Amino acid sequence: MDCIIQYLENTGLNAYTSDKTPSAFPAPFVFKPIFTEMKTYFITGGAGFIGGNFILNLMKTGQAKVINFDKLTYAGNSDTLAFLKSDPDYKFIQGDICDRKKLTRIFESYEIDFVVHFAAESHVDRSIDTPDDFIQTNVVGTFELLEAAKLYVESKVLNRKKNFRFLHVSTDEVYGSLGETGLFTEETPYAPNSPYAASKASSDHLVRAYFKTFGLPVLTTNCSNNYGPYSFLKNYCL
Ligand SMILES: NC(=O)c1ccc[n+]([C@@H]2O[C@H](COP(=O)([O-])OP(=O)(O)OC[C@H]3O[C@@H](n4cnc5c(N)ncnc54)[C@H](O)[C@@H]3O)[C@@H](O)[C@H]2O)c1
Repeated sequence: MDCIIQYLENTGLNAYTSDKTPSAFPAPFVFKPIFTEMKTYFITGGAGFIGGNFILNLMKTGQAKVINFDKLTYAGNSDTLAFLKSDPDYKFIQGDICDRKKLTRIFESYEIDFVVHFAAESHVDRSIDTPDDFIQTNVVGTFELLEAAKLYVESKVLNRKKNFRFLHVSTDEVYGSLGETGLFTEETPYAPNSPYAASKASSDHLVRAYFKTFGLPVLTTNCSNNYGPYSFLKNYCL
């Protein structure tokens, strides 16, 4: 989550300043919003582990409107954010990122400033048993979301176009495996080793292509494993 915030800081948005605090997860950062107006975030996969924590932190700022778009697969838990139900700045919409028509309708109905794309099939072992869902959601779903975002941005006036960002949350698994030592950098060649990693690598390439070809303002993060509150424990106990 820290690298996501860092990215938002480093991209000319100047959206937040963040202070490291000695407190324990889930609040390692204190958000200090310096927006002059509320920003609207379209967040995919916000009923999942990282997306849910991200929304909780974002809502604490009191400076963000959030649309949480989630299919509620086995990994989604609508209870985590149920207490936000009556908050006028929060809206949950159940849906599939492969449904471009629905995405387009939502993009047309709200003035969205940022897309933060967490939704994915995200567990390596499952991708070995049933890779189909991984290709569908991670590759096709990301493509549909990019198309909907492109259409939306193209229809906007210059100022909103300039400030729009599409943040794609990916994984370091796209770089392959490390031995006992070593590290990945952003220059490490892609070498995915599982259907999960390959599907995320594919989505990274699509996101990059939408920047290079269409100028869609995108950012990609490739973080390592996360753990903490609301994680789907079964994935760590198999
Ligand atoms: N958890 C980690 O350690 C880790 C590490 C690196 C990268 N990531 C990436 O971070 C993102 C979030 O990971 P997570 O651990 O929170 O995942 P998660 O499995 O906990 O949550 C994924 C969420 O996406 C939703 N979803 C799945 N398919 C969907 C679809 N077709 N349309 C709409 N929503 C859909 C699920 O219902 C769920 O709420 C993923 O993109 C993952 O690849 C996770």
